[in-house]
Amino acid sequence: MTDHACILGGGCAIGQHLARLLLDEGQSVTITVSAEHRVPALRNTLGLSQEQDDRLRILPLTLENQASVENGLMRIMEGGTPTRVADCMHPHLEGLIAATEPDEAAAYFAAAISARNHILHSLTRAMLAARPALRGQPGRHAHHPEKHTSANGGSKPAVAGRLVYLSSTAAGMPNAGQGFYAAAKSAAEALYRSIGVELAPRGITTAMLRAGYVDAGRGAQYLAAHPEALHNIPLRRALTAQEVAATLHWLLSDAATGINATTITMDGGLTACK
Ligand SMILES: NC(=O)c1ccc[n+]([C@@H]2O[C@H](COP(=O)([O-])OP(=O)(O)OC[C@H]3O[C@@H](n4cnc5c(N)ncnc54)[C@H](OP(=O)(O)O)[C@@H]3O)[C@@H](O)[C@H]2O)c1
Repeated sequence: MTDHACILGGGCAIGQHLARLLLDEGQSVTITVSAEHRVPALRNTLGLSQEQDDRLRILPLTLENQASVENGLMRIMEGGTPTRVADCMHPHLEGLIAATEPDEAAAYFAAAISARNHILHSLTRAMLAARPALRGQPGRHAHHPEKHTSANGGSKPAVAGRLVYLSSTAAGMPNAGQGFYAAAKSAAEALYRSIGVELAPRGITTAMLRAGYVDAGRGAQYLAAHPEALHNIPLRRALTAQEVAATLHWLLSDAATGINATTITMDGGLTACK
């Protein structure tokens, strides 16, 4: 497997920590950001050593803009087909279902769901196409997965691609105003779940991580306005961006491949409570 990882929406705090972890282990990393002006700003914020900076590409990919999605995909592939993909991207729409114009919701779903599907279609097809070349073998049949021998003598399917989606507990337990966010998160989870079902026999697996309150991004803004929300969490604190990134990092690893087509919750116990 080549060591090219891609973090979609890697400009958020969680994505930045994940990028550092991947760069620290020697991978080449491509990060997408929501707009061109975010590119130099993010490179500046990351402040990497020259050696790590040389292994990092940052490029714009705006979900609402089809040309930007296609251009972003083309540029991702210029760095080689990524075999590890973490998806932290999420456009913003908050509003009550009964109070939000359906056209606004339709545009949001086009970005959050249809554009994501476009990206997943391209990435998984590229992973499938790259696999024979990587292995020096002809294409394979879905019901006869290629295997390799592991250190303990057992055999397991070779990894052609690993995709991890950063979801939210809001998918199953939205606050008022988060209905569109919950719908988009649930739909994205379903896409990733199906990829894991359909392509695991060919070496492409998926996992979805439902994070609870995170002390970063929109979560930090919400908690600043609603600190009482922490009392509903048995852990009595928000997650940090670092610990969510560390979990995504592990979920991307070969060791986590058995966690496929399923959702894991990391919320300090929030959704275990009545
Ligand atoms: N914060 C929390 O409490 C929490 C809890 C559970 C799950 N999450 C998930 O964690 C991820 C990061 O969220 P956050 O709250 O930490 O920060 P955020 O600033 O809301 O992060 C959103 C991410 O999506 C990208 N993005 C936004 N609109 C986009 C668009 N139209 N096209 C392409 N990319 C777009 C952003 O890119 P730029 O930075 O380049 O603009 C950023 O990387 C999201 O997927 C969110 O759902 C967060």
